[in-house]
Amino acid sequence: MFIKKLILFWTLVNFLFATQGADVTCSGTACTTPGNCPSVPTTPTSLAWQNGAKSGLCAINNCPSNTSSGLVGASDLFCQSCPGSTTGQAKAVYSNTQMTGCVAASATCGNSRTPNTWSNSDCLACNGSSQQYAKPDQSGCTAQQQSSSNILLFSSLLLLSLLLI
Ligand SMILES: *[C@@H]1O[C@H](CO)[C@@H](O)[C@H](O)[C@H]1NC(C)=O
Ligand SMILES: *[C@@H]1O[C@H](CO)[C@@H](O)[C@H](O)[C@H]1NC(C)=O
Repeated sequence: MFIKKLILFWTLVNFLFATQGADVTCSGTACTTPGNCPSVPTTPTSLAWQNGAKSGLCAINNCPSNTSSGLVGASDLFCQSCPGSTTGQAKAVYSNTQMTGCVAASATCGNSRTPNTWSNSDCLACNGSSQQYAKPDQSGCTAQQQSSSNILLFSSLLLLSLLLI
């Protein structure tokens, strides 16, 4: 009987609070103070940062049911709190380049990414099909697939022509 009550209680608790996002670390512990957490997306409306479940951490008050697309102004921290649809094992905790959705990239789509770490799958996740291929040096994304063997061929031809001159 007690167990049943406990289960009922937890179901109720989960139901009431299920939409609060996961806890994330903002730059300050005052979650509602502007500047501590990044701006919330403007679409959908009524999003806000509030205190997380753990003290000192922050969470989005009410996650939209699907954050894979349709957002305006999503940040990485927002996506950590309200992840998009999981792709395979990867959690969709990074905002895409357009800041319209949370995607399952291997690292941030933004400027703080470690240089030269772009892969084809990250380019597709972050930039969509318009720029879905990684450059041969992995410095960014491009619309056309450029295989590194083409670059090799090109450099050898260049070298050959230089030798011939
Ligand atoms: C969320 O929306 C995307 C399309 O924007 C869709 O592919 C995905 O299946 C949706 N996820 C869920 C959990 O409904
Ligand atoms: C993604 O595409 C935009 C243009 O559509 C471009 O400005 C940006 O640099 C691309 N991102 C990367 C990592 O190449």
